[in-house]
Amino acid sequence: MAEIEKPVLEVHNLRVEFPGRRAVATVLSDISLSIRPGEILGVVGESGAGKSMTGLAIQGLLEQPGRIAEGEIWLAGRRIDNLDDRSMEKIRGREIGAIFQDPLTSLNPLFTVGAQLTETIRQHLTLKKGEARARAISLLNDVGIPSPEERFDQYPHQFSGGMRQRVVIALALAASPRLIIADEPTTALDVSIQAQITSLLRRLCKEKQTAVMLVTHDMGVIAETADRIAVMYAGRLVEIGPVDQVLSAPTHPYTRGLMASIPALGARVQRLNQIDGSMPRLDAIPAGCAFNPRCNEAGPRCTRERPVLLAAGAAASACWLNAGGTA
Ligand SMILES: Nc1ncnc2c1ncn2[C@@H]1O[C@H](COP(=O)(O)OP(=O)(O)OP(=O)(O)O)[C@@H](O)[C@H]1O
Ligand code: SF4
Ligand SMILES: [Mg+2]
Repeated sequence: MAEIEKPVLEVHNLRVEFPGRRAVATVLSDISLSIRPGEILGVVGESGAGKSMTGLAIQGLLEQPGRIAEGEIWLAGRRIDNLDDRSMEKIRGREIGAIFQDPLTSLNPLFTVGAQLTETIRQHLTLKKGEARARAISLLNDVGIPSPEERFDQYPHQFSGGMRQRVVIALALAASPRLIIADEPTTALDVSIQAQITSLLRRLCKEKQTAVMLVTHDMGVIAETADRIAVMYAGRLVEIGPVDQVLSAPTHPYTRGLMASIPALGARVQRLNQIDGSMPRLDAIPAGCAFNPRCNEAGPRCTRERPVLLAAGAAASACWLNAGGTA
């Protein structure tokens, strides 16, 4: 049992840099997190906080000249941040599935849904054609596509937006990956469909014991779907912990601000930027705590020393006020 409980994903002190002509932009700094089998980690934070970048770094998809400058990424006990492109290509799809905001970025309009599914399946698993077809149909059934045998031979444009995103989830699951990275998977969909897709993702993750990193700016989705939540600010992790605790009793002033910006828990908001002021540009992050210019509780220490993640109940948060400290 102890073996099963080991995290699928472990990120240790991840730092991502983009060298520029004049300076090096630090896009992610000291990010540490883990996700266990069957666990959904929701990742939230204002636009530009580094949510997508974290997912891309894990998948080995940082665009040039972006690079992992420090830290380690482990997948099921294997270090993956230092692998070459070919090894990483094998891991994508096979061990890490991806779901992006717009289903059309993952689907090729020229091929039937069935052809795309069987190709992905056969790329990663040694199955005969007929077996791959059977698996594809069963996956379409799993993700709630009615009459999967008939739908198998149809093209993406013959599916509605919600149905297309279900196909993308089937594609992500095709090779039974250990981890799924879903970056705003419902943002492009009608509000009425969003809840169906997130509850589907949650059900499949629990059934298949897949670890999920769910990036979203929708706190309603987080409340309904995630087991734990990671809050990011200016390329840093400011709070991480069980969703109930972080939503009901956030310990970081930034997380408190986020919660206060939501009319009621479960209500859906478009953007989480109603806290006074704005997130600093990455080349102008203030010394000490990156949140200090916007923080009502900042003290002298906050402009001098960068706070580290400290235990706060079952969660951890990077604020000097934690653990009876002073700011
Ligand atoms: N090629 C690049 N070179 C330098 N900085 C970059 C590059 N691409 C992105 N960034 C910066 O990285 C930061 C993190 O971006 P990221 O896309 O991860 O944000 P995000 O949290 O996903 O935001 P959103 O909610 O808008 O999707 C941003 O400040 C962005 O400006
Ligand atoms: S460390 Fe200081 S500035 Fe940062 S959130 Fe805590 S009190 Fe505010
Ligand atoms: Mg993003």
